[in-house]
Amino acid sequence: MQVIVTPDPGAAFQQAASIIAGEIRSNPSPVLGLATGRTMEGIYSLLVQDHLQNGLDFSATTSFNLDEYVGLSASNPQSYRHYMNDHLFAHVNMRADHVHVPDGLAEDLNAECQAYEQAIHDAGGIGLQLLGIGETGHIGFNEPPSPFDSRTRQVTLHPVTRRQNAGMFGGDANKVPEKALTMGVGTILDARHLLLVACGRSKADIIARALLDTVTPDVSASALRLHPHCTVILDTAAARMW
Ligand code: GLP
Repeated sequence: MQVIVTPDPGAAFQQAASIIAGEIRSNPSPVLGLATGRTMEGIYSLLVQDHLQNGLDFSATTSFNLDEYVGLSASNPQSYRHYMNDHLFAHVNMRADHVHVPDGLAEDLNAECQAYEQAIHDAGGIGLQLLGIGETGHIGFNEPPSPFDSRTRQVTLHPVTRRQNAGMFGGDANKVPEKALTMGVGTILDARHLLLVACGRSKADIIARALLDTVTPDVSASALRLHPHCTVILDTAAARMW
């Protein structure tokens, strides 16, 4: 595992964006795993800038998002599909049929999860998987305990996560959906390169637990230490206990 500590969040976003842009430029048909959350906004904005200013070409890129809330439609501003349209897809030249976000409104959610796994497989697997970390140690929405061989499935969100994500729901944790679809820890570990980005003091404790304590399903992000090619980018605040 390579850990890069940057002086501030802006520098962390720059480093992450340059790794993603490098994958897009060097691979004739890149397959990216994408994440949501506040941390990712700065990264997507740099990628959009790279597209507009330097012609970073997304036309051959396929993407798979980590997760989606159950019960929210693509047009709902609180859904992750909407977030992705807003922060990335609407501003770059990705083909609509190359973009995948789990459908939290699917009639049969189990079938949707199985089809998602199949689509990742059919695309040749994920080359570069972008990840944030939740205060529960989740990656995607893999709340503790999540088996390291878990696959895409429906999960129940931890109360801490619903509080952490309440900002998008008018600050009311009760309005955050209770369920989500998420790639499993096993699905994530199958990607060829993992890129975790964490910034800010609120992430320092969980980063220390994930990177320094026991590797355990009780901290999903600790699974990253089992991966042969994992890059972690932290700002100094998130790396406080590193
Ligand atoms: C959500 C997402 C996670 C993400 C986390 C961190 O819970 N499901 O994939 O890692 O947010 O969010 P933030 O970057 O806003 O701290």
